[in-house]
Amino acid sequence: MNFFFCYLAIFLIFLLFITKHILSHHKNQPPTPPSLPIIGHLHLLKIPLHQTLANLSLRYGPILLLRFGFRPFLVVSSPSAAEECFTKNDIIFANRPSFFAFNHLSYNKTTVATAPYGPHWRNLRRITTLEIFSTTRILTSSDIRSEEIRSLTRMLFRDSNNYQSFRKIELHSRFSELTFNVTMMMIAGKRYFGEKVVDLEEGREFYSVIKEGFSLVVAFNLGDFFPFMRWFDYQGLKKRVVRVQKRRDAFFQGLVDERRRRRRRVGSSCVGEKIERKETVIDVLLSLQESKQEYYTDEIIKGVIEAMLAAGSDAPAMTMEWAMSLLLNHPDVLDKAKAEIDIQVGHGRLIDDSDLGKLPYLHCVINETLRLHPSAPLLLPHESSEECTVGGFDVPRGTVLVVNIWAIHRDPELWVEPTSFKPERFKCMEDEKEGFKFMPFGHGRRACPGANLAMRVVGLALGTLIQCFEWERVAEEKVETNEEIGLTMPKAKPLEGMYRPRQTMIDVLSQV
Ligand code: HEM
Ligand SMILES: *[C@@H]1O[C@H](CO)[C@@H](O)[C@H](O)[C@H]1NC(C)=O
Ligand SMILES: *[C@@H]1O[C@H](CO)[C@@H](O)[C@H](O)[C@H]1NC(C)=O
Ligand SMILES: *[C@@H]1O[C@H](CO)[C@@H](O)[C@H](O)[C@H]1NC(C)=O
Ligand SMILES: *[C@@H]1O[C@H](CO)[C@@H](O)[C@H](O)[C@H]1NC(C)=O
Repeated sequence: MNFFFCYLAIFLIFLLFITKHILSHHKNQPPTPPSLPIIGHLHLLKIPLHQTLANLSLRYGPILLLRFGFRPFLVVSSPSAAEECFTKNDIIFANRPSFFAFNHLSYNKTTVATAPYGPHWRNLRRITTLEIFSTTRILTSSDIRSEEIRSLTRMLFRDSNNYQSFRKIELHSRFSELTFNVTMMMIAGKRYFGEKVVDLEEGREFYSVIKEGFSLVVAFNLGDFFPFMRWFDYQGLKKRVVRVQKRRDAFFQGLVDERRRRRRRVGSSCVGEKIERKETVIDVLLSLQESKQEYYTDEIIKGVIEAMLAAGSDAPAMTMEWAMSLLLNHPDVLDKAKAEIDIQVGHGRLIDDSDLGKLPYLHCVINETLRLHPSAPLLLPHESSEECTVGGFDVPRGTVLVVNIWAIHRDPELWVEPTSFKPERFKCMEDEKEGFKFMPFGHGRRACPGANLAMRVVGLALGTLIQCFEWERVAEEKVETNEEIGLTMPKAKPLEGMYRPRQTMIDVLSQV
């Protein structure tokens, strides 16, 4: 009997040794904090996530391996490590991980933002670059941006107490409607609220369904980390995702069908040029569909709509809101930006797209806003398709890559007074290569294709508001710049400000 226990003990020790050996198969693993069985490091996670990860990186180093349930995560928070991921290993990390909501809300990962690296993604990326993000397309869509911004300006002027006294305004929802309207005009040639009451209702529902989709993408789903939980849905999350996706899909299909009917009508009456100029993103994709029906299915078109709404609407609005908050807290910066616009554009007309190139200080303000408050502080998750090394450490295949640009943007080794708002710092950096120390739009193959477009929307909106109105804080205290929970960085409190039209702009404003 004693022998039996002895053998058992030896066997167990042997087993332990073997499993340990198998687990540490990657000899040179990146540093990793102590973990718990099964859940790994899940217990360390607190929100805001980018701050928690930044704190962990301070303790364990800029290349950090975490395990959430059964999935390995590589957390990177130094420019040199990020550079290795997005240059030497760029193709390896060009995949996107699978998460239930992420997959389901993006047509089974077939959209440009979620598709795995491969011919399909490359083609979508090529098409969208050509038809949406190219210099020519950005020029043709400038009418849309300026018209929407004029409409906001008109609204503000109408609601103001002329230039007598300041008036309070809630800016959060204005910005988010503005960018939503711009995106919808580009996609479908209509705003989300139409003129009719019916459309208005539909518009509001559409808007809320879209927003709910975003909140579900970042919701925590146990099944994503524990394979054995995939069969259960005790959080009720899957049911919600499926329901929301159904409604979103119906809206997107409605938009596609509407443009298709319109094209048929217009096509038969053959009007020509004038229509072509007003071609929307859906129109462009529908004409591709006509020539290559089996590839450009309605699903692909809806996927492009989804990606543009998801990626292109919230981030610019958030950036505008952060920028205005920072400007209200720093009136000296606001004055400088205003002075630049007054010199370059004057008071005789509204600022337009072609002025943006002459306003470097305004760009510095936007860059500095994106440094402190990048809309995607952890970028979007990437996933490795092969084993590779980062900083000399072995990274197994199937590891989710998280690049903490929030931490890099605030690293005191890289930035002087990292938490201060100092747009001037970008002026001296113009010739210096910012490279991997500043990357609000990511880097490499999967970087944001909408960066150029975004800078224009944000620049024009901010520029117009600065040119036309005087701005003040609602109260003596500074505007709060706390971040809310979640993966993106909305403000904890929606921004409010005080404004009145500038006297010198009254003539222009009354004609907008
Ligand atoms: C201030 C505004 C914006 C910011 C800060 C921003 C930032 C980002 C970031 C960080 C990524 C992920 C990069 C990565 O995973 O490495 C991304 C991806 C993307 N963005 Fe933007 N973005 C903005 C505006 C826009 C706009 C206006 C559009 C389009 C209308 C857009 C379309 C996309 C798309 C399609 C992707 C996915 C690319 C891919 O996976 O291949 N973004 N963006
Ligand atoms: C990170 O560390 C700072 C300073 O020690 C602390 O104030 C903050 O609460 C921490 N944040 C999180 C999310 O753990
Ligand atoms: C995704 O694919 C699964 C099967 O592969 C299918 O049942 C499901 O309907 C698809 N979902 C969407 C939104 O296309
Ligand atoms: C967005 O469009 C709707 C419908 O035309 C309009 O009522 C709303 O004021 C617009 N929002 C902004 C901020 O321009
Ligand atoms: C803002 O940052 C971008 C990099 O994302 C850089 O190319 C550009 O020159 C910067 N603008 C200014 C005015 O510094």
